[in-house]
Amino acid sequence: MSELALFGGAPVRSKPWPRWPQWGEEEAAQLQRVLASGEWGGFNDLVGEFEAAWAKRHQAKHCISAVNGTLTLEAALRVMGVGPGDEVIVPPYTFIATANAVCLVGATPVFVDVEPDTYNLDVERVAAAITPRTRAVIPVHFAGLPVDMDRLLPLAQAHGLAVIEDAAHAHGTTWHGTPAGTLGHIGSFSLQQSKNLTAGEGGLLLTNDDELAAKLWSFANQGRNPGGLWYEHHLLGANLRMTGWQAGILLAQLTRFDAQLARRQESARRLNSILEEIDGPLPMRWDTRCDNHAFHLYMMRYDPTRFGGLPRDRFIEALRAEGIPCSGGYYRPLYHQTPLAPPASRVDECPVAEQACREAIWLTQNILLAEPEEMDDIAEAMVKVREHVDALVN
Ligand SMILES: Cc1ncc(COP(=O)(O)O)c(C=O)c1O
Repeated sequence: MSELALFGGAPVRSKPWPRWPQWGEEEAAQLQRVLASGEWGGFNDLVGEFEAAWAKRHQAKHCISAVNGTLTLEAALRVMGVGPGDEVIVPPYTFIATANAVCLVGATPVFVDVEPDTYNLDVERVAAAITPRTRAVIPVHFAGLPVDMDRLLPLAQAHGLAVIEDAAHAHGTTWHGTPAGTLGHIGSFSLQQSKNLTAGEGGLLLTNDDELAAKLWSFANQGRNPGGLWYEHHLLGANLRMTGWQAGILLAQLTRFDAQLARRQESARRLNSILEEIDGPLPMRWDTRCDNHAFHLYMMRYDPTRFGGLPRDRFIEALRAEGIPCSGGYYRPLYHQTPLAPPASRVDECPVAEQACREAIWLTQNILLAEPEEMDDIAEAMVKVREHVDALVN
């Protein structure tokens, strides 16, 4: 039995995992196009070209690009008329931007618990949290798996709630064949560096509603009307435009996007089966209604009692030493973050989110871009750590 890498032994894996972001000649050529055009800002033709490509891919009527996936959420809330005095239902197990956007428009985030096997909003609990002040819900398709939209959409409709999808993790995800980001009133994507489609920073909005699209465009363009005069401003707005550089990079990234989406799913399938074989940590449920899963994260649930009492963080430390770069993800629910704690928010009891912060293990999407057989290194490292559990616990 070889020594744990944590104690000086040879690691299971020393080969590097795929880098992220990935790039090549395509990016260089697009950047050169932007440079030579002399039009570097948001009115470069490539911006419109990319928006059209993203809209077409999603069979959406409108795509509006933006600087990031936080301000897209804020813009979506604003154009849906959400403001002071309103409540917006959000999960407590997500990146802080989801709830910050609610506070930025002066509304109150209402934290509702997540499901134990997906970490997505629990729709039954959403129903119980609706009050006369509730104006919107932000389903976060966490890690790339959609919230149960079959139940959420009719519930939202019955209560007249705006549905703003936070699809920051769900590029390429589909639900019964319908692309994530087009299931609600407005879909929001992030293109920040870690995301499955990236320009370093950036954001995207999708909608099928002409009026909302015009308002989103206007908000992103200082309150101008599409096609209107430059110094004529009709609404309160800001400048959310992405640059030509970003659009050029994104058009190039799109050429690899489908292959990467397929590869991540292939690797995830293999991981699901080998984790079962080794009786490892439990993978999250891959809902059969999700026919494409972006796998922005591959998440597992760790139970120390199945690993001789080894605490999760020590398990992660040992795996990392073996060359498996995993993490425990968020270590507290959002309502325990200073700017979001009550009275800035309203909090339902969220025992599942609390448990998720204790039990989750995350692998980032670039790991899944390796050859699917390379997932076996992850299982091998877990088996090795389990064999040495006594040395780690004592
Ligand atoms: C779920 C979620 N929503 C929103 C955002 C915000 O996106 P951005 O960083 O582009 O502002 C992120 C990540 O960064 C995220 O993970």
